Amino acid sequence: MEKEILISKVAIQERVRELAAQISLDYAGKEPILIGILKGSIFFLADLMREISIPTKMDFMRAYSYGSNMHSSGSVHLTKDVELPIQGRPVIIVEDIVDSGLTLSYIKENLEGRGVESLRICSLIDKLERREREVSVDYCGFQVKEGFLVGYGLDCNEEYRYLPEIYVLKE
Ligand code: IMP
Ligand code: MG
Repeated sequence: MEKEILISKVAIQERVRELAAQISLDYAGKEPILIGILKGSIFFLADLMREISIPTKMDFMRAYSYGSNMHSSGSVHLTKDVELPIQGRPVIIVEDIVDSGLTLSYIKENLEGRGVESLRICSLIDKLERREREVSVDYCGFQVKEGFLVGYGLDCNEEYRYLPEIYVLKE
């Protein structure tokens, strides 16, 4: 499929640094657990964690919502859960993209039910096109109006994740 560059490597790097600086300030004196939502968020989580200047821990969840096409299937279920104890801990969910909001609202509710000290959301991309569930993104990398994005961990049928930049696919 044809694609067009949308966000360069340097622009991603700069924005990740800014988000990391803000998180470092907001969580000074604490040790937040960063929960990456697999698989799309892994490069973002890895870069973000190394730019944050306070101690953090990492864990992962995997939620299944997208099938093999570009549309959300509507239902969400967990296929991998966190392994660290999170009760009483400050938690930051690190997501690649919030689109309809279904995945994150499910995960958020699920984690809130486990007595975390606090819960915030950090998403690389906030897509405003198809929001169905109200989800407030506390730390947002980039707002994107429309299009299907790939690269920097984001995939289309498991392709393109390896690209260092973010592209928009052309029909
Ligand atoms: P939501 O449940 O509709 O908010 O979508 C959640 C998931 O769909 C995201 O975490 C992504 O993994 C995937 N997704 C949504 N939009 C895109 C896109 O443009 N490119 C790649 N993956 C996407
Ligand atoms: Mg995802």
